[in-house]
Amino acid sequence: MKILVLKSSGNKKGSSNMLADEFIRGARQSGHDITEYDVFRADIRPCIGCGRCGMDGPCVQKDDYENTLKGLIMASDMLVFVMPVYYYNWPAQLKAVVDRFYSHTGQLTHKRMKTSLISAAWDNTDTVFAVVDAYYQQLCSYMDFRDQGTVLGKGCGTPAMTGKTRYMKDAFELGKNIKTTR
Ligand SMILES: Cc1cc2nc3c(=O)[nH]c(=O)nc-3n(C[C@H](O)[C@H](O)[C@H](O)COP(=O)(O)O)c2cc1C
Repeated sequence: MKILVLKSSGNKKGSSNMLADEFIRGARQSGHDITEYDVFRADIRPCIGCGRCGMDGPCVQKDDYENTLKGLIMASDMLVFVMPVYYYNWPAQLKAVVDRFYSHTGQLTHKRMKTSLISAAWDNTDTVFAVVDAYYQQLCSYMDFRDQGTVLGKGCGTPAMTGKTRYMKDAFELGKNIKTTR
């Protein structure tokens, strides 16, 4: 299965990417074809809401989303959203990607893609992922995504902290257990 991993942290070797790399290691062991895409380092502008795409057409913004990422997404069977928590929410870099789904919402919904969410936060509280996870579940519902599981790493504030958590193993297992069937 083709899995597209969307990394969004500015910290290349940071906590969320550490967890993503474990997911990738597991998924590769199970024979999946992984493509990594660094959203943070791409030129992806926010949706400007002009409506010219009609939710089903080219976007007027000819940036890395329109020229590259849109095609990668449509050629994949699964998307993995990888992100640090920023103020209890999704970071702007990755939210911009989701907002750009707008120009192909119908086609993307029709694919019924598999998805997962991998995230790292500093806090180790019960509520730190409340909004992050609620938004993800709502997105899955609206876009007809098939959630394959989440790794929500609490107390993952630095690579040293993250490396000692059970979330590393959880991420590996999530990748390893991704099934080709629904
Ligand atoms: C702008 C900003 C906002 C943050 N907001 C939160 C937050 O609301 N809750 C939290 O637990 N950690 C927060 N953090 C900490 C990061 O989520 C945490 O350090 C994470 O491990 C960073 O992941 P990374 O290494 O993949 O970038 C924030 C960090 C930054 C830079």
